[in-house]
Amino acid sequence: MNEKEEKLRQLFEELRGDKKLPLQESNLVFGEGDINCSIMFVGEAPGQRENELKRPFVGRSGQLLDKLLGEIGWKRENVYITNIVKRRPPENRDPSEEEIEAYKPYLARQIEIINPKIIAPLGRFSMNYFLPFAKISRDQGKIFETGGRLIYPLFHPAAALRATTVLNELRESFKRLPDVILGKIKEETLTLNAKKKEVKRASPDVPQAKLF
Ligand code: URA
Repeated sequence: MNEKEEKLRQLFEELRGDKKLPLQESNLVFGEGDINCSIMFVGEAPGQRENELKRPFVGRSGQLLDKLLGEIGWKRENVYITNIVKRRPPENRDPSEEEIEAYKPYLARQIEIINPKIIAPLGRFSMNYFLPFAKISRDQGKIFETGGRLIYPLFHPAAALRATTVLNELRESFKRLPDVILGKIKEETLTLNAKKKEVKRASPDVPQAKLF
């Protein structure tokens, strides 16, 4: 086991042993994929199927994620996939603020260990962890830079399963992913960073979320 694998194993054990974390009645879904890849997809919380199999994104949303990855010639085992909240909220409800708060430090450490160049948050809960002022309908598919990494927020696949317009936009954003990884979309990144600062200035009282 190399150093990275060992650190992730320790993190997994710590997470499993932390009985103060909420949602103890559900299984732990840690994350999976290539731990040396340059991109990490971060969803919200496991659903029913994920809870059963203890793997992220293996239900209907996961099938769509796999399909969209396939359309750009990628395979799920070549990227890393996880969630902020690592246990399933009952009845597939949205994760609460307290649940997100409780699991956040573990995601931060997981990111630090894997050290991806790009993080693609899936859906607004995950996006707002990285970009507290972003709005998913406005900012999905745009590139931000924070904590030394690029953040590329995407619609949650579940939203795309509910609306064709969302699916089309998500598909377009996936098509741009290879160029985002290769750093071919720099000019836009800078413009968007400027925009992000404006957004920050407009809400000076809201503290920035702690990142990594
Ligand atoms: N939705 C998520 O946000 N994460 C999963 O793992 C599955 C569905």
